[in-house]
Amino acid sequence: MEYVRLGNSGLKITEITFGTALTVGTESIMQEYAENMVDTAWDLGIRSFDTSNNYGKAEGLLGRALKKYPREQYVLTTKGSWPIGDSPYHKGLSRKHILWAFENSLNELGMNYVDLYYAHRYDPEVSMEEIVRTFNYLIESGKVRYWATSEWPQSALEECWTVCEKLNLEKPITEQFIYSYALIKAEENGVKKFCDKYGLGSLGFSPLCQGYLTGKYRNNIPTDSRIAKSGILHYDKTKNFYEQNKKRIDFFLDTCDRYQAAYTAVALQWCLRRKIYPVLGASKPEQLKENIQALSYKIPEALWEELEEFRTED
Ligand SMILES: NC(=O)c1ccc[n+]([C@@H]2O[C@H](COP(=O)([O-])OP(=O)(O)OC[C@H]3O[C@@H](n4cnc5c(N)ncnc54)[C@H](OP(=O)(O)O)[C@@H]3O)[C@@H](O)[C@H]2O)c1
Repeated sequence: MEYVRLGNSGLKITEITFGTALTVGTESIMQEYAENMVDTAWDLGIRSFDTSNNYGKAEGLLGRALKKYPREQYVLTTKGSWPIGDSPYHKGLSRKHILWAFENSLNELGMNYVDLYYAHRYDPEVSMEEIVRTFNYLIESGKVRYWATSEWPQSALEECWTVCEKLNLEKPITEQFIYSYALIKAEENGVKKFCDKYGLGSLGFSPLCQGYLTGKYRNNIPTDSRIAKSGILHYDKTKNFYEQNKKRIDFFLDTCDRYQAAYTAVALQWCLRRKIYPVLGASKPEQLKENIQALSYKIPEALWEELEEFRTED
């Protein structure tokens, strides 16, 4: 497993981050399950772990599962601002909410600090100066090493840059956006370009398009898949991903078939070739093993060229 530098920052992460949405803390709240997933990730060389205060019980389970490992040897990230209750104080990027949400996250994780704390979504109702000062305060407090953004529009990132420069404050070190071969909007809306130009790292979440790029939904809906489990997970958006991205999903699977290339190998290496580091989910240890093993498969250059050339309007 390679270590990569996150943008211009001094922080290195493993090229794959293990994410805990909808699995650890949602699909199962058993500590044993969390430990099995974390131990598998660790044995495979993963040293970057992603969670959030809105991923069910994930923070507590992940924090406890990581306890046996030396704290300095992994990167732990969590996020705040996603609505977690009905009150106006349960969401957003105000100093009031973020400082409260962050302390809760730290308690849940059972840690003294997190390596990376995300502004999970942009909040147009809070001034950029308040946002930047709040995240810098957390860094100054010693409880956060770096801060980051997720799914921020390019215009907000630009404003953030200007404000940080003006106030001489720490900038976010990475942006985490949805990204896979099926869904490349970050390359079309200016966000990836902004990251490359200003030395902001790029992390791509849902690199398998929630399972579609593994080919698992090609012929039917397997009984133990995210779509079949939507009732238990209280999450029913996965099926929409196909409707919204079917041309690219079908083209991806057909092209892999023609070259007899392993789907997950192509899906993950597609991201890595662009220096978009996958934040990868898995509901079973075997999936993690399969996915990490696939990083070493050699993919023919002609396959990459075909995937590159495909345009959705084709
Ligand atoms: N920043 C944000 O706003 C944001 C939003 C969403 C997610 N994230 C992060 O990104 C992480 C990954 O997102 P994600 O789980 O939605 O997307 P993903 O990595 O594209 O999909 C993961 C899911 O695909 C299935 N899968 C994985 N490997 C497989 C294999 N080898 N064979 C068959 N099925 C396989 C599993 O689901 P089943 O087995 O259940 O079918 C697994 O849970 C999250 O855990 C979270 O940390 C961040």
